[in-house]
Amino acid sequence: MEINNTPNDPRITAGKNISYWTDSQFAFPKTPLTENLETDVVIVGGGLAGLSIAYCLSLSGKKVVVVEDGFIGSGETGRTTAHLVTALDHRYYDLEKIFGEEKTKLIAQSHQVAIDFVEQTVHQEKIDCEFERVKGYLFLHPSDKEGSLGKEFEAAGKAGVKIREEEEVPGLLYPQKALCFLNQAQFHPLNYINGLCKAIEKMGGKVYTCTHASKINHQGITTSDKFTVKAKHIVVATNFPVNNLYTMFSKQYPYRTYVIGALVKKGTLPNALWWDTGDFSKNTKYQPYHYVRLHPYNDLFDLLISGGEDHPTAETSDTHVPEENRYRVLEAWTRNHFPIGEMVYRWSGQVLAPMDGIGFIGRNPLDHDNVYIVTGDSGNGMTQCSFAGLLITDLINGKENKWEKLYSPLRFTFKESGVALKLVAEDLKNVLKKWFYTGSVELSEIKNGTAGIVKLDGKKCGAYRDESGKLFLVSAECTHLKCMVLWNNDEKSWDCPCHGSRFSYRGKVINGPANFDLPSYTDADPDSKSF
Ligand SMILES: Cc1cc2nc3c(=O)[nH]c(=O)nc-3n(C[C@H](O)[C@H](O)[C@H](O)COP(=O)(O)OP(=O)(O)OC[C@H]3O[C@@H](n4cnc5c(N)ncnc54)[C@H](O)[C@@H]3O)c2cc1C
Ligand code: FES
Repeated sequence: MEINNTPNDPRITAGKNISYWTDSQFAFPKTPLTENLETDVVIVGGGLAGLSIAYCLSLSGKKVVVVEDGFIGSGETGRTTAHLVTALDHRYYDLEKIFGEEKTKLIAQSHQVAIDFVEQTVHQEKIDCEFERVKGYLFLHPSDKEGSLGKEFEAAGKAGVKIREEEEVPGLLYPQKALCFLNQAQFHPLNYINGLCKAIEKMGGKVYTCTHASKINHQGITTSDKFTVKAKHIVVATNFPVNNLYTMFSKQYPYRTYVIGALVKKGTLPNALWWDTGDFSKNTKYQPYHYVRLHPYNDLFDLLISGGEDHPTAETSDTHVPEENRYRVLEAWTRNHFPIGEMVYRWSGQVLAPMDGIGFIGRNPLDHDNVYIVTGDSGNGMTQCSFAGLLITDLINGKENKWEKLYSPLRFTFKESGVALKLVAEDLKNVLKKWFYTGSVELSEIKNGTAGIVKLDGKKCGAYRDESGKLFLVSAECTHLKCMVLWNNDEKSWDCPCHGSRFSYRGKVINGPANFDLPSYTDADPDSKSF
């Protein structure tokens, strides 16, 4: 299932493959901003975070304007797998070590509050998004230590998570002990956020699509078409905040993650969520794990949606399996564990792993007090983005909130600062290495369907020749901090190995922190020295 990621494609998403969610949506209305506006709060980003925040603020009586670069959910929200969980990416026994028992309780509570909030909103706004409460099963990855399930049981229980030990995992092809997390949930993410949009507009809020915020400051935003939205408060919910060039990239790490959708005869598997505990044999900053769920597909089949095989963005040396081949590995893992039939979908996305295991929601560091960000979602962004709606609404309304300090993007405790300084040093080393990246090929070596870095008139360019032979040339210098971008042959994008900015093969920015396109030389003649 692939689409052409061209500006004219009405289903533009953050890559060439499209997800089941995007494919099962009817229409993506194009509603660009064409006038200057004034409002209480302007929100940049029409994913789950931006729309949850806009919804909660509207409920509290604030006038909101949302601007979205692509279409509603065309970022990572359209590429998710939409497990709503209290079983977090970071084990509770690790969180307890970093934050202590009391704060770990607060972390668990915030995810439970988020699931309850989504359920309540679905009922209140009558959103048809197949929201369902399910159980979730965490089982041991072969590389993990025997005792880790027991440790997690104890720590999660202490944090107030409803959990029990099970001798067998329902649905798995072989017997396996597990922890069963009760009261988890799942939904169709795009149907849910479309429901939020309708509710926001009913309350007087405005949602604009195909509207890129090119300038963002404490007074509001200016779009690339030169329209302005002046606001008392500014919220940047662009997944990686595109208004924060220097502080957040050292606190979180971008990872690519892969998903397949395979047919399963109805009634074969129970409706549930499944996760393994992660691959400890990999030398990455966090242990990539597999995540699996079921979704109704048609009268005969359900879709088993299985994800994993993560790696740092633009860096596949963990297994030397390139991006486009990760699906084969994921399919093999899934067939080993579940009784699946034909694979009918595949797509990939990006998650941001935060340095200390929990997200960042609150005031933008080194900025005015009225500018807010949401980032560091990891694989728990569904609950984090929903929770951001509640927390940011309280901050803007000047209400006390017991989670404010915990999730503050400004947080920098002694323990974490040690880690962060080490990571900043590592990061600087990487940036320097990638600035001076010298590998390049001749333009004539770029065959149809391939890409590479070429040197033209002294400038490094990313060159991609599509299957028909058309050449696309863009500058290879990332518009964030000038690292050299690398080709992702799976999503046909130029990905930056430094902090995860991504650009389509035409140069359009599709993931921050960069907020500007790569200069495109596609229409220039490579021999004319007009670069
Ligand atoms: C494959 C995959 C599986 C996942 N599975 C789960 C899961 O099961 N459970 C879970 O909890 N989490 C999961 N996550 C994480 C979760 O999907 C994300 O955290 C969440 O969708 C992020 O939402 P967001 O609103 O922050 O970002 P996005 O959905 O990316 O929204 C940001 C929006 O901002 C827009 N934008 C960017 N720059 C500008 C600009 N300058 N002007 C205007 N608009 C702009 C973008 O177009 C984009 O639409 C998964 C993620 C992936 C990739
Ligand atoms: S994302 Fe920072 S230099 Fe590219």
